[in-house]
Amino acid sequence: MQQVGPRPDPTGGPSLGTPVARDSLEPVQQHPVFGIRDLEVHFRATSGSGTLRAVDKVSFTVNRGETFGIIGESGSGKSTLARALTCMTRPSRGQVLHAGLDPWGMDKRALRLHRHNYQLIFQNPDSALNPRRTILASVVEPLEISRGRGAPDNRTDALQALERVGLRPEFAERFPHQLSGGQKQRVNIARALILQPYALVCDEIVSALDVSIRAEVLNLLIGIQAELGLTMVFITHDLSVVSHVSDRIAVMYMGQIVELAPAHELRRGPLHPYTRALWSAEPVISAMGMRQNSERVLLNGEIPSLLSPPSGCRFRTRCPQAQDTCSAQVPSWRESGQDHWVACHFA
Ligand SMILES: Nc1ncnc2c1ncn2[C@@H]1O[C@H](COP(=O)(O)OP(=O)(O)OP(=O)(O)O)[C@@H](O)[C@H]1O
Ligand code: SF4
Ligand SMILES: [Mg+2]
Repeated sequence: MQQVGPRPDPTGGPSLGTPVARDSLEPVQQHPVFGIRDLEVHFRATSGSGTLRAVDKVSFTVNRGETFGIIGESGSGKSTLARALTCMTRPSRGQVLHAGLDPWGMDKRALRLHRHNYQLIFQNPDSALNPRRTILASVVEPLEISRGRGAPDNRTDALQALERVGLRPEFAERFPHQLSGGQKQRVNIARALILQPYALVCDEIVSALDVSIRAEVLNLLIGIQAELGLTMVFITHDLSVVSHVSDRIAVMYMGQIVELAPAHELRRGPLHPYTRALWSAEPVISAMGMRQNSERVLLNGEIPSLLSPPSGCRFRTRCPQAQDTCSAQVPSWRESGQDHWVACHFA
């Protein structure tokens, strides 16, 4: 059933302005915006044999208005998780619950509309922009799908969205190739926001930008998030970025979350050897300038193949603290301090 017109945010968030077409979610404020339970996403190996578990038994929740950071090396499953969170990829096992409801239980049309509420912004600023369409046409497009072509407020709302991300009206008639990377990423943020989503999943959205532009785009996003009370999942491999924007941070290694804690807690006292190694790789800033951390933890070897992960703890082939138990037993996921979770036998 499609509902058009104003209705309460099922996650209990603020009203985000002019109505757009919505799905049939009922208000269920007591549920987290994302409830992820034993999520697995499998791919068939390109060689034809074997199953690659890009996301493997991942569970966490993201509360309303929270910014949840996810960090991990290349290939750890961050983008696959992002796609599963926004219903672009169907879970192979487990559940992605949105405000307590399973979107994959909806019919096709309801699911298509439902996706508007959980927007994904990609790393590549060009990925969502049609090079042959003007910026205005690109920003209006989601509204046309949602409200219908020619709805009276489409153009005004698109111009307002562009203004909100710091782009003056003259940008509206330009084409993507006439914009810088940072400006294109602003357009992508406007495109995502125009559907008044409950949650935004940002997958490495500043990684492809010049360092000088990154802070501008990040600060813009932080401002919008605070203003709208948006729920955000922020994925990056950049420690300084994830610490800057997140309330809590999950650390991913080979498709699994190995540590999860409030951002300040993780910075102050990382428990998992992998998190400690990531943190120690961050340059130290002092009065003498920037230098490498003298306590840097160097990891052995390469990340093993996801097609044949190591037995026991997946990190054991690279862990400086590995012992015999680590290959025999999978470490349990346990709470080690308040809201601080870790999967390591010796953390
Ligand atoms: N469509 C697909 N088919 C097969 N394998 C895939 C597919 N998408 C991802 N993978 C594999 O799943 C694993 C996780 O990939 P993913 O892109 O999620 O990692 P990531 O953490 O986002 O990496 P990066 O930091 O490089 O973006 C990788 O081994 C990748 O090759
Ligand atoms: S369980 Fe063992 S191998 Fe795994 S992180 Fe802990 S010490 Fe290292
Ligand atoms: Mg990725």
